[in-house]
Amino acid sequence: MYQTVKGTYDLLAEDMKKFERVELLFRHFLDLYGYKEIKTPVFEYTGVFSKENDTSDMVTKEMYSFSPNGKDSFTLRPEGTAGAIRSVVEHKLYASEELPLKIAYVEEMFRHERPQKGRQRQFTQMGVECVGDKSPLIDAEVIALGYFYVKTLGIENIKVCVNTLGDNASRLAYKKKLQDYFAQYKDQLCPDCQNRLDKNPLRILDCKFDHELECIKNAPKMDLTPESKEYFDKVLSYLDALEIPYIIDDKLVRGLDYYTDTVFEVISTREESGSQSTIFGGGRYDNLVKEMGGPELSGIGFAIGVERLIILAEAEGIFDEYKNEVDSYVIDMTEGSEFALKVSELLRNNSYSCEMNFYPRSMKSQFKSVDRRNAKFTIIIGEDEVKENKVTLKNNATREQYNVAYEKLIDKMDSLMEEE
Ligand code: HAM
Repeated sequence: MYQTVKGTYDLLAEDMKKFERVELLFRHFLDLYGYKEIKTPVFEYTGVFSKENDTSDMVTKEMYSFSPNGKDSFTLRPEGTAGAIRSVVEHKLYASEELPLKIAYVEEMFRHERPQKGRQRQFTQMGVECVGDKSPLIDAEVIALGYFYVKTLGIENIKVCVNTLGDNASRLAYKKKLQDYFAQYKDQLCPDCQNRLDKNPLRILDCKFDHELECIKNAPKMDLTPESKEYFDKVLSYLDALEIPYIIDDKLVRGLDYYTDTVFEVISTREESGSQSTIFGGGRYDNLVKEMGGPELSGIGFAIGVERLIILAEAEGIFDEYKNEVDSYVIDMTEGSEFALKVSELLRNNSYSCEMNFYPRSMKSQFKSVDRRNAKFTIIIGEDEVKENKVTLKNNATREQYNVAYEKLIDKMDSLMEEE
């Protein structure tokens, strides 16, 4: 017997309802903030994700890459930003549409990570990217979108962490400063961080293994250029104006290499989220559009991990009111007459969801199906009803029953619904 591959999962009907619910609200937020959804292919040329000197775990260790023809290398997308920006550049959207471009995606991602609760090898991200303009107002608006979405969903116990990685000049100087500083502690660092020392010493600051080391705690801070400091201060003042509570975490670097200036993560403070507490993360990227072959345009975005969000939403009891519910169930006590089928179609044509009995069963057993489906209305059809072209309609909430002609059924149900 086959099972799902490690780190992947089936979404059964009840899970699908939860996904639908969180995605529906997300799409509502996209409308509120003017984002348009796109879909990019599940796999891309490997170069879309992997740039020279990349140091992120995602690119160096976790990508599902393959080469069916032995020549070209393809990769299942491990995240949404690179593909979205590839698409912006390929279609020159920055030339044909008003800037900033506001694009969004809800897509499956693939990373070869060690699976655990909230960390899968196939997972879903809902993300946004705002490309083409750079302003602290945009940074604040993007953070607000994610924060208010999560709050509106009903997730209470969250913390917003923000930091700045500075502009290119501040970061370059900081890189050198950190390299000089960490050189004396090289032996204490984990093998990954020893590698990062050359290429991306900033990542040492948020290493999962080394974060308790004294040398990391005492690492020098970044000297921001005046422009970069002013930019970040503005972002913070806008967050204050929107009453979004945040903490500044100067060790927040984020795991991907393309970030510049503002970076942020929203973290759950609930125990249920365990070690995988980051619900969403993102930041600004000044260089990615250019690296992808486009003009010098900055962007900012974030991605929410849908599975993690659902774990938290379950813990907050957000899905508790869910019932498997249908508007109507047609009990058929005839020997399979066409009438029950016709009535069912009539209901669906008038936007009442409907299920019907398919095989001869006792009335009692068909009523059990009504209960199991939490149907609002039961429609009972026997030989008499067929002869007289009518049905027996039962309002399951009040238990009242009505004899209704086929032509009057929808009017009657509409009026009962209005009374509710
Ligand atoms: P990321 O931090 O790698 O950023 O992922 C964003 C979110 O995806 C995480 O906060 C987490 O909720 C979820 N996630 C990541 N890996 C897994 C996994 N293995 N299993 C379950 N959930 C996971 C990005 O991907 C960036 N592209 C975000 C971004 C958009 N930055 C700018 N624009």
